[in-house]
Amino acid sequence: MQPCRYSEIVSSEIFKPRNIIVTGGCGFIGANFVRYVARNHPDVHITVLDKLTYAGNPQNIAGLPQSQVELVQGDICDAALLERIVPGHDAIVHFAAESHNDNSIANPEPFITTNVEGTFHLLEAARKYDVRFHHISTDEVYGDLALDDPRRFTESTPYKPSSPYSASKAASDQLVRAWVRTYDLRATISNCSNNYGPYQHVEKFIPRQITSIMEGVRPKLYGTGENVRDWIHTEDHSSAVWEILTRGRIGETYLIGADGEMSNIAVMRMILRLMGCAEDAFDWVCDRPGHDRRYAIDSNKLRTELGWRPVHTDFEAGLQATIAWYAANRAWWEPAKAATEARYRAQGQ
Ligand code: NAD
Ligand code: DAU
Repeated sequence: MQPCRYSEIVSSEIFKPRNIIVTGGCGFIGANFVRYVARNHPDVHITVLDKLTYAGNPQNIAGLPQSQVELVQGDICDAALLERIVPGHDAIVHFAAESHNDNSIANPEPFITTNVEGTFHLLEAARKYDVRFHHISTDEVYGDLALDDPRRFTESTPYKPSSPYSASKAASDQLVRAWVRTYDLRATISNCSNNYGPYQHVEKFIPRQITSIMEGVRPKLYGTGENVRDWIHTEDHSSAVWEILTRGRIGETYLIGADGEMSNIAVMRMILRLMGCAEDAFDWVCDRPGHDRRYAIDSNKLRTELGWRPVHTDFEAGLQATIAWYAANRAWWEPAKAATEARYRAQGQ
């Protein structure tokens, strides 16, 4: 049998957004998505709605044309603000969240407020003004896999979140599904694996290690270091989200992943080697409570139904470029580094 031609496998109905709201567009993945849309779809206007928490930085979207990208500083939990800004837009792409597992363990409350209540307020606004909704979620809603399990997560894997963060994301996914079924909201959901690339906050694994080494501090590995994450370049996440927003089927969930499984210790050693250090020049620190062992995504549905493919398939090359980005942008990350490390020290990490 001949393989399907691209034009045969893509869904026939194409949604052409003109005026979108991107929540959390000053965070890591949201900002990379805003940059992706600005570059590839100059006819689309983008309103970034962002509270500018410790994780949001207007610099992340600096330099984009003001005629195309507008920043509204505000909270997704502010229903009155949503009443003012949602009308006139044809889609909401919802990235805004409290996103860091370690923070959710130390203080879960903002995770429930932003991730659950905030999503609820956005869904209500989208319903009232009949706006298409794409919800950004995570593979962590599925819990974890054993290191030697041959299976990967699929769209039908049961939900089994481990941390307050992943439980709050699972709750928000279920709200979206309920709004589709009960109110016919035109919504889609994507659950992606671990992103890396430019503009990622220094609290996260890869930027934390890179910036520590740049400051002459030994990087820190949790537990045994055997835990596996399934890495994807954030630009590949952006292209997948665009495909799902414009060609995905309403009510459907799509898993996004780029076959990038690696143990934390292997990533740590690669960073050290690429930065010219001995591969054992790191410290072991205490483990994260409830630490998920392994995430692994089967993105077959997205690839066969929408024809999506990742472009950044060479992880080492992507990591090298990411290291170069942090070396060239010290002024961007240095202000956040000391406070982040003070937080980690208080947790023994
Ligand atoms: P991030 O922490 O870097 O950015 C979050 C952004 O949301 C920040 O700009 C912040 O100011 C904003 N924000 C937080 N609370 C808000 C509120 N109440 N109202 C408005 N804005 C608010 O997060 P990220 O890593 O870019 O993750 C973005 C989304 O992608 C999240 O929904 C996350 O669950 C999901 N996700 C992340 C990954 C990953 O590897 N980082 C993987 C899969 C899915
Ligand atoms: O899988 C998707 C998820 O990936 C997203 O939903 C989350 O928003 C995102 O933060 C990320 O979650 P993780 O907990 O996997 O990412 P983090 O960067 O915090 O940690 C990656 C792995 O590295 C994890 O196994 C913990 C470990 N780690 C982390 C830090 C910060 C260390 O060993 N040392 C560290 O210093």
